[in-house]
Amino acid sequence: MCGIFGYLGKRDNALELVIKGLQKLEYRGYDSWGVTTDLNGELFCKKKVGKISEANLDDFTDKKATIAMGHTRWATHGGVTDANAHPHFDPDRQISVVHNGIIENFQEIKDELGAENFVSETDTEVIAHLIAKYRKNHPFKEAVLKAVQRFEGRFAIVVLNVGENYLIAARRGSPLIVGIGEDEYFLASDIPAFLEYTQNVNYLDDNEMVIVDGGVEFLNLETGEPIKKRLVNIDWKAESAEKGEFDHFMLKEIMEQKDTILRAINQEEDDIMHIAQQIKNSRGCFLSGCGTAGKVCMAGEYFFSMIANRHVNFAPSSEFPIYHHFLRPESLLIVISQSGETADVLEAMEVAKSKGAKVLSLVNVEGSTIARQSDFSIHIKAGPEKAVASTKAATSQMALMLLIATAMRGELQEGRRVLADVGSKINDMLNPRFLTYIKTVAEQLKDHENAYIIGKAENYPMALEAAIKIQEVSYIHAEGFAAGELKHGPIALIAKGTPCISLVANDEVRQDVINNTMELKARGAHIIGISPEKHDVFDEWIKVPDVGVASPLVNIVPIQLLAYYLAVQRGLDPDMPRNLAKSVTVK
Ligand code: M6R
Repeated sequence: MCGIFGYLGKRDNALELVIKGLQKLEYRGYDSWGVTTDLNGELFCKKKVGKISEANLDDFTDKKATIAMGHTRWATHGGVTDANAHPHFDPDRQISVVHNGIIENFQEIKDELGAENFVSETDTEVIAHLIAKYRKNHPFKEAVLKAVQRFEGRFAIVVLNVGENYLIAARRGSPLIVGIGEDEYFLASDIPAFLEYTQNVNYLDDNEMVIVDGGVEFLNLETGEPIKKRLVNIDWKAESAEKGEFDHFMLKEIMEQKDTILRAINQEEDDIMHIAQQIKNSRGCFLSGCGTAGKVCMAGEYFFSMIANRHVNFAPSSEFPIYHHFLRPESLLIVISQSGETADVLEAMEVAKSKGAKVLSLVNVEGSTIARQSDFSIHIKAGPEKAVASTKAATSQMALMLLIATAMRGELQEGRRVLADVGSKINDMLNPRFLTYIKTVAEQLKDHENAYIIGKAENYPMALEAAIKIQEVSYIHAEGFAAGELKHGPIALIAKGTPCISLVANDEVRQDVINNTMELKARGAHIIGISPEKHDVFDEWIKVPDVGVASPLVNIVPIQLLAYYLAVQRGLDPDMPRNLAKSVTVK
């Protein structure tokens, strides 16, 4: 939610660099953008509604500066307008601020400072005004510290003051990473923004502040005391965060599933066994995540039940705090997250920890807040995922859950073999002919208002996930149902030609799902069957490999593609769906 990028260093094209960095972060927010610098003692700023990918770099080439910062916005307080775009300033336009998150007590501070002096509707502007107030009697660093100490809520901010050649950043609840290059420093809300310059990073933790000048100095936000940080080397390659030959990140990331599953299962045996043992030892094990990661958790619930004979409870992270009555020190919470920064997940973790429970996590972004705040964390190794729609991270997370379930049953090696086979079958499936066929199925669906997806058992969560994929990128109203639930209400929605996707695995519930599909067909539905075997009830048949209990991993892939082509055919940008951002760092 919102991209932040700051630069200070040896290059004199800091503004261009910030714009390019922000373009790499656009998936975090694309309502508006803005950049600022100190141009020979004068504040320069450009901010605008729209996508930063459309910014013209030529407009900035003559503006030489070695310090700059900028922001891509996902609006929370105040509409999408130029005035509400970041950076925001103090009344004298000396101090500029970019911000991700929410300052919950902004109204109280705004009233105290005189609401008439504000030019935007944002909560962010109070940051600059309050720092300016303290700046009158304090050095800049102290003024920032004093101001930040008053803010309530979750935030990441970067501040620049004209005439003082350094950037100050602070974090509570929203991600901020410091990239350490050779005589240059980067501040960003996500690593891909500066990956081409350095792979060495310091993660800012909650309640920490960093002063970036000719070096980096970390302070505790509450006490102002200096703190030592560990430098971490990131193993992502810069190219892995680029689109390469693909038109969109979403397609690139779907295609990467040819090998991400294999990478996901390539884990230390001890780590997998450790998690398996923790689940066995726990009394009350919960799985939690949001959106797609939540649907992965639901699939995990089925895997643990079917493979390891173990009941694990799923709760979406936003609902998890309600379960606090059931948590105790012997409980275990397993959280799943691509970004490792989702606010609802972090809150679920806090609740679990407050009851003494242990927290394990499966995350894609190494060193992310969720990874660092877990008692034990596994990195799913899917590589940067930049499209808002989660694809490769989801299948990697499911692969790991399945692997853990097989390990609990004492069959880890067999689990690896099955999943390696899934990886190679997905590789075969993602061939040009398959893609062309999905495109033609998308043609049939693209002008419809509604689509429904059914699945049973481990494919019920995939019906729900399919709906998320279609909704978020194509804006077609899509809903997933447990196949058997249809006749209890949803079947009333079916009319002649209504597109219905049926997930029919080759398993013990196959006949049930076929029967439910026939019920749909009898009401006039147009049936798209996703199945290893053809059936007369299907109007269109998307053939997927038969991979037994791992069927959710292969069934979701054609739907990811379908959602992608639906978006493209409807003239939408699948990488940046309206109203959404890649990582949801607000509650
Ligand atoms: O980064 P996370 O996995 O924690 O994100 C969770 C959800 O916000 C995310 O899966 C979201 O639902 C995606 N847009 C779905 O494609």
